[in-house]
Amino acid sequence: MLPTWSERFKHRVDSNPLAKVDGLDDEPLGVARIAVTDGMAQDAVVLLEHAGHEVVLGFIESADLLSGALSDFDAIIVRSATKIPREVIENSGERLKVIGRAGVGVDNIDIIAAAGAGIPVVNAPRASTQSVIELTVGHLLSCLRHIPRADRGMRQDKWEKKAMKGTELFGKNLGLIGFGRIAQGVAALAQLFGMEVHTYDPYLPVKVAKAQNTTLHKKVDTLFQSCTHISIHCNYNDETHHLVNAERIALMPGKSLDGILCGNHIVNCARGGIIDEEALLDALNSGKVASAALDVFEQEPVLPGNKLIQHPNFHGTPHIGAATLEAQARVGRDIAHAVMTVLGGEQAETTVNSHLLK
Ligand code: MLT
Repeated sequence: MLPTWSERFKHRVDSNPLAKVDGLDDEPLGVARIAVTDGMAQDAVVLLEHAGHEVVLGFIESADLLSGALSDFDAIIVRSATKIPREVIENSGERLKVIGRAGVGVDNIDIIAAAGAGIPVVNAPRASTQSVIELTVGHLLSCLRHIPRADRGMRQDKWEKKAMKGTELFGKNLGLIGFGRIAQGVAALAQLFGMEVHTYDPYLPVKVAKAQNTTLHKKVDTLFQSCTHISIHCNYNDETHHLVNAERIALMPGKSLDGILCGNHIVNCARGGIIDEEALLDALNSGKVASAALDVFEQEPVLPGNKLIQHPNFHGTPHIGAATLEAQARVGRDIAHAVMTVLGGEQAETTVNSHLLK
C-alpha cells in the first residue's frame, strides 16, 4: 500500500537534519533552508528570516537543479523563470519538503511529479488579481485608442491625429475566456464602461455568470461569434492550447450591435500558448483583427525579430501582469506564509497538488 500524505511528509521532516521533531503535532519544525530563485519582496524575506529560516537568494541554473542543487534545501520559492520538471524533483534528494510558486500559474512546475515525491506545491493565487485586472483593462483601452502606436509616431516627430481615430468600449461586447477572479474583476470594470460581457468557462457554475450579469456561452465558438473584443483569463493546458486560432478569429463580427465598425480586438494577460500567435499575426495582416495586445507569449522571453511584436497594430508587455509593488508585496507575504505552514507540518490552503498527494 502507498504511504499516506502525512506519512510521506513525516518521513521528509524526519530526514531533515535541521528539524527538531519528536512528534509532528507538538514540535515546531525549526530552522529551514529556503532557496528563493527568482526574487521576492524584501518584506517576505524578512518574514521568513524572522521565523528563524535561512533564505538563500539567487537564480539556480537548470543544469545545477538537474544535478541535485535542491538537495541542500528544505524549500524552494520560484516565480516563472525557474523551471522544475520531473527530473529536477527526482534529483532533489529527500530534504526538499515544499515548492512555493510566488504567483498563480504553476505550469513551470511538474506538480504530479512533486506529489509523487510527497512534496506539496503551494502558490499565491489571489495576490496579483487586482494588478492583472488593471493591466488587462489598460491593454484594452490602449488598443482601442492606439496609445502605443500614437506614442511610437510622436517619438518620430509625427503628428498623426487623423490616423489615430479609435472607438469606445461603450456599447461593445466583451468576451471573457475563463471567468475566475481576474475575469470577474475585468467584467465589473467593463460593465462600468458600458460593455456587455459574455463569458465562456466550462468549469463555472452558471449562477456565478448570472450573478455578474454576463451571458455564459456553452460553446467557445458562439462567444467568438458574439464579441468584437476578447480577453483571455484561463489556464494554459492541453485543452486551452491554441484555443484562439484562425477558425475562431474568423468568427468574430468586427461590428458592434449598435452598428459601429469597431473591428476585432484581442488581449491576453493570462498565459502564452492559448493564442496561436501565427494565426493572430495573419489576422492582423489581413485586418480581421484590428488590434491585439499580449502580456504573455508562446516563448518567453520573445526572440528578437518576432514579426508579431513588430506589427503596427500590436503592442506588448514582457509578462508584467503581477509586476506592481502591491502585488509583489502580497505575493511575497502569501507565499512565505504558505511555505512556513507546510514546513510547520500542516497543509497550506493554497496547495495545488493536494488532490494528488496520498
Ligand atoms: C503568475 O502566474 O503569477 C503571473 O503570470 C506572474 C508571473 O508569472 O510572474
